[in-house]
Amino acid sequence: MRKEPWAIFRELILNGYVTVPSDAASIAPRVYRAFDTLVDFATENISWVESFNSEGIGWKIRQGLDYSGAFAPAYKDNRGVCGKDNKVSYQSCPGFWAELKCAGFDSYPAKVEALDMELLDAIDLVREKMWPIGRALIELEPSLEHRLLNRNGTANLTIRVIRYSPANGNLAAQPHVDRSALTCVLDSSDPLSTPTLAFAKPWLSTLRLSNFRAVQADNENKILPRAVVFPGEGFARLGFEAVPPTPHTVFPLASSANRYSLVAHWMVRGLDLSGPETELRLLPTHDDNAPAIAAA
Ligand SMILES: [Fe+2]
Repeated sequence: MRKEPWAIFRELILNGYVTVPSDAASIAPRVYRAFDTLVDFATENISWVESFNSEGIGWKIRQGLDYSGAFAPAYKDNRGVCGKDNKVSYQSCPGFWAELKCAGFDSYPAKVEALDMELLDAIDLVREKMWPIGRALIELEPSLEHRLLNRNGTANLTIRVIRYSPANGNLAAQPHVDRSALTCVLDSSDPLSTPTLAFAKPWLSTLRLSNFRAVQADNENKILPRAVVFPGEGFARLGFEAVPPTPHTVFPLASSANRYSLVAHWMVRGLDLSGPETELRLLPTHDDNAPAIAAA
């Protein structure tokens, strides 16, 4: 049943996120397997990573879209990097590979192509999940339309697969807000009994780690809502302060297994959220018997 715009808005403000059915059970494991293969390849081929990332930045500039700095296709390996989350990620942007293939870019290994094919399926699914929420906010604030939609009326989405490695009991992801209009976590590999993605209310002025709550099982349906949609900094930065960004974190992993996640970002036109403001993503947090913040 379609939710009314005000009902969506109310849920976003009260909880900081809206839960949606994931429907990614068949796609997500294939994405994670394909990503493992890419990580093995990229770890052995650093020059490919450099070349891929510089092509990604060049593509973003050629697009002339002036989106957030996070919009470029990129492969990032921050495992073991001091001050960073212990994770590796790959971000894909629709249209990027088609252009590179036309231009004769010869470093498109089959491993990457396999992952991109899976991600294209996932992005269709995620578009379906995010669209009603973005549309609802545009209905409430029509001036958002030209900042959220392209000329052809579509949303600009990026899709990212992330693999978190265990980090000695530290938070898997530091508390932060996203540089997007909306973010959708379409899936994670968390066991149903130990969800680790956690949110704090968006309107709290002081954040403690104990303010963060993991998204729990749906009492009515007795399932974990695997997909959530929540606002990043985009709306507040456009002056629509009624929708502040939602702080979130990933609690320490419960087991020695890697954690995977599939995340999409809905970008804002004409708003560069990179640069000095990036530092605002890390929120002041005071420990109070909650898990330690990663120091390394
Ligand atoms: Fe995030």
